[in-house]
Amino acid sequence: MKSIHTAVREQFSQHANYYARSSAHATGDTLDVILDFAEPNGTERTLDIATGTGFTAFKLASKVAYVIATDLTPEMVTKAAELADEKTIKNVNFSVAAAESLPFANASLDLVTCRIAPHHFQDVPAFLSEVHRVLRTDGLFCMVDSVSPEPKKLIAWQNRVEKLRDDSHVYGYPPSEWDAMIMNAGLSLEKTAHVRNAEMSFLWWVRPESNPPEIVQEIRDAFAKLSPDEAKEYYTVRPAGDDFYFSWPMYAVKARRM
Ligand SMILES: C[S@@+](CC[C@H](N)C(=O)[O-])C[C@H]1O[C@@H](n2cnc3c(N)ncnc32)[C@H](O)[C@@H]1O
Repeated sequence: MKSIHTAVREQFSQHANYYARSSAHATGDTLDVILDFAEPNGTERTLDIATGTGFTAFKLASKVAYVIATDLTPEMVTKAAELADEKTIKNVNFSVAAAESLPFANASLDLVTCRIAPHHFQDVPAFLSEVHRVLRTDGLFCMVDSVSPEPKKLIAWQNRVEKLRDDSHVYGYPPSEWDAMIMNAGLSLEKTAHVRNAEMSFLWWVRPESNPPEIVQEIRDAFAKLSPDEAKEYYTVRPAGDDFYFSWPMYAVKARRM
């Protein structure tokens, strides 16, 4: 069986340009909340894990000492580095690294961020243990990820739908499981928030150009099976002709290394 890291690289190596142009990733509350939670003072040695095409790293760059931006997929790192050049951002360095095995010294960083990525990680406890290891005492971890709602039925529904669309999706944990894993890793939870990205068009998100029509239909049917309350409350579903708009629930966390 293909490893999760291989599935991630296969998926994201094809989509570096799609992400670089994605307004759902380039802006929005999920980016702002990281800045709000981090409250940088200009001196932070910062690591942005799973940086993708660098949106979080770029937003932080002018507010911290420097950012090391890492990602598992070389094509994403290459694209992010090109964008940094275009934007003439000088204090961001890029490298290829897995979240579960970071090539940085113990206690060498003040701030670690990670946005909309851990649902692709093969081992979230290993990732959190690495975050704990590389942060200095009192250093901050600020994260946002798409999460499942707490009801068990919706945890199963959402993970099935996400995996159908993208086989590099691993697991969207509900917030209660995130809280428990973060505390188990030796980080103390200081703040949490429920946030959303901009609504996405289903027909854009489902990538009909790379997913076969029967998979697109299966995902569409899964959305149609949600009750009207579930569709509205958890996924902000809004019909629009043949298409519909929706958003995933996201969870933001500010935690301090003890
Ligand atoms: C949705 S994209 C990136 C989002 C980006 N953080 C942002 O704010 O726009 C998810 C990224 O996670 C990366 N990724 C997935 N699994 C990873 C892992 N185990 N270690 C490091 N990066 C990983 C993928 O290569 C991809 O670039």
